[in-house]
Amino acid sequence: MECFDVLRARRSVRKYKKGAPVPAEHVRLMLEAAMYAPSAVNSRPWEFFVTDKDSVKERLMQAHPACKMLSTATLAIVVCARPDLQPNHGFWPQDCGAAIENILLQATDLGYGTCWCGCYPSEPRATLVKEVLGCQSVPVAIIAVGVADESPSCKGFYDASRVTFI
Ligand SMILES: Cc1cc2nc3c(=O)[nH]c(=O)nc-3n(C[C@H](O)[C@H](O)[C@H](O)COP(=O)(O)O)c2cc1C
Repeated sequence: MECFDVLRARRSVRKYKKGAPVPAEHVRLMLEAAMYAPSAVNSRPWEFFVTDKDSVKERLMQAHPACKMLSTATLAIVVCARPDLQPNHGFWPQDCGAAIENILLQATDLGYGTCWCGCYPSEPRATLVKEVLGCQSVPVAIIAVGVADESPSCKGFYDASRVTFI
């Protein structure tokens, strides 16, 4: 797909075809896309946890109140921040946001549905998800990935009132 089409095709999907395969090479492409994102002073302050295990997805659903779509999604990719790699500034939420969006767009291009489920800066969500992963980094978002079993309408549109040309 062209970039123009990928951007406009992406939707948040909350119902997936349970058990639909997502091959390892596609997971690799999504993670690679994430790591092509720009980051402040090229610090790349991120790490990624990937699971297709129902038991782990279940624990993530318990930790995060708005990611129930993981019950049908094939994968959860958790994007975590490493603020320790940016000791002199705090651009890591922006850096991780760029990585997250790259995953969504790469997944769309590969034909998958996704949903971005925010963790940080919600303290309870970030803390509980961190416990599930057993990591030291900061969970920024859980991304559900799978084959869509619904066709949500497009929510994006151009709003001229939010733009000022100076
Ligand atoms: C920072 C952030 C956090 C979000 N968290 C959740 C979430 O926890 N659960 C969920 O179902 N959707 C979540 N979403 C998805 C939004 O609800 C969705 O992007 C928005 O309604 C627009 O719909 P669209 O993605 O289909 O364009 C989140 C999106 C962003 C950017």
